[in-house]
Amino acid sequence: MIERILFVCLGNICRSPLVEAVARQRFAEAALDIEVASCGTGGWHVGAGADGRMQEAAAAAGYRLDDHRGRQLSVADFAHYDLLLAMDCANLRDMRRLAPHAIERTALFLDWAGVAPMLEFPDPYFGGQASFVASVKLAEQGVAALIERLRAG
Ligand code: 4NP
Repeated sequence: MIERILFVCLGNICRSPLVEAVARQRFAEAALDIEVASCGTGGWHVGAGADGRMQEAAAAAGYRLDDHRGRQLSVADFAHYDLLLAMDCANLRDMRRLAPHAIERTALFLDWAGVAPMLEFPDPYFGGQASFVASVKLAEQGVAALIERLRAG
C-alpha cells in the first residue's frame, strides 16, 4: 500500500515543489490519505524558497508555494517513502545511484502515472514564463493520472 510519496527533481525549486502542491490539494479533494513531499537530487537550493517564476504561475492556478524550502534527497528518504517519483531520467539515474537497494520504489512521475506518451517532465528553469505556465498544466494532468493509478491499486 502506498502511503507516502516523494517527488524528486534537480533543484527542488521548480517542478517537484509544484507537483507536491498540486498533489497535496488534489489528494485532499479526492480523500486520498497519502503523505506527499518533494526534494532535489542537487544541493544548490537547500533552504531556498521556490523559484519566483514558478510561484507566480502556480499562484495564478490556485497553488501556493510560499512555505516551500528546498531540500536535498538523502538515503533515509528511501526508507521513509513508498514511492519516489523522478521528474526526468537524470533525476532517476541519480536516485538509483544513491540507493541501488531501493530501485523498485523509484519511477518516472509521468510514466508511472500513465501520461502517455510523456516520460519526462520538462525543466522550465531555462525557459520563459510560458514554460512555467505549461508546467502547471502538466502537473495537473500528471496528478490526475496519478490519482487514477493509485485508485486502481
Ligand atoms: P527543478 O529546476 O529541478 O525543477 O527545481 C531547476 C532548478 C535549478 C536549476 C536547474 C533546474 N539550477 O541549475 O540551479
